Amino acid sequence: MSHPFDYSNKRVVITGAFSGVGAALLEVLAELGRPEVIALDIRRPEGPISTYIETNMGKASSVAAAADKIKGPIDVLFNNAGIAATHPLEDVMAVNWLGLRQLSELMLPKMREGGAIANTASIAGGQWPAHLQEVLECISLETREELFGWTREHAQLVGDGYAFSKECVQVYTMKSAKQTLARKVRTNSVCPAPIDTPLLPDFNKTMTEKTMNWTISQIGGTIASPRDIAMALAFLGSDASRYVNGVNLNVDLGFNAFMTTGQLDFSGLA
Ligand SMILES: NC(=O)c1ccc[n+]([C@@H]2O[C@H](COP(=O)([O-])OP(=O)(O)OC[C@H]3O[C@@H](n4cnc5c(N)ncnc54)[C@H](O)[C@@H]3O)[C@@H](O)[C@H]2O)c1
Repeated sequence: MSHPFDYSNKRVVITGAFSGVGAALLEVLAELGRPEVIALDIRRPEGPISTYIETNMGKASSVAAAADKIKGPIDVLFNNAGIAATHPLEDVMAVNWLGLRQLSELMLPKMREGGAIANTASIAGGQWPAHLQEVLECISLETREELFGWTREHAQLVGDGYAFSKECVQVYTMKSAKQTLARKVRTNSVCPAPIDTPLLPDFNKTMTEKTMNWTISQIGGTIASPRDIAMALAFLGSDASRYVNGVNLNVDLGFNAFMTTGQLDFSGLA
């Protein structure tokens, strides 16, 4: 029997592997057995991959063309690409949410039984319990036009789009886990706290440096490395998590736990 974390005979698709978490994931997977890796990104990753398909996750035609080029069976799909709200709202929703859903749905028929989908969400998307019905309504919309119309009608809830796009990913993870399980494929997400990646300066702009630094201070002052998140993704994609489905795994050194139990110190935010 193979090691539960072994990737050696697997075929893996990763979005957003040029930098940050995705680039670290390439290294972690290489350590875990060097699977065949098909990378979808706007930029060609420099790490260990087998195939690069230039793909704009924010463009439906580009995602469809990429999915078409991928021959099954695929063991693991890592939906990791994402952008910050330094980009226009519609681009944020298109890359972080619509592209992720589209690729998941197109890949599911090509996935092997026992396979897994692992999404990169965020702790920023953790506020969905306050408005679950609206998020469910939003993720059920099929077309871009419907979605963009809905976001305009719910401008206050949607805000700059980043946190809301990650709420969509978290709720979709739970909802789609039922459909993917019917095909014996698990679906889970990681929800990271701030990570030291090229995206961080963008978050410092959109969420303010003060808020980002305060968040990190509440978990002991050490920011997550891309590898910290990549290891959790590798776990969710591996057979080691074969009974884990529909889970949004906070990879945040306890930030959410401290929030839920009233142990955050907000004085530094005033
Ligand atoms: N950095 C953080 O603080 C943080 C915190 C929580 C969650 N996340 C999430 O982690 C994931 C990875 O981000 P990161 O921090 O490694 O940032 P990053 O900018 O280093 O990586 C993003 C990757 O996505 C690719 N990408 C960007 N736009 C794309 C597009 N339109 N189509 C295809 N690929 C595209 C980039 O080329 C890059 O490889 C994202 O989903 C992000 O939202 C990041």
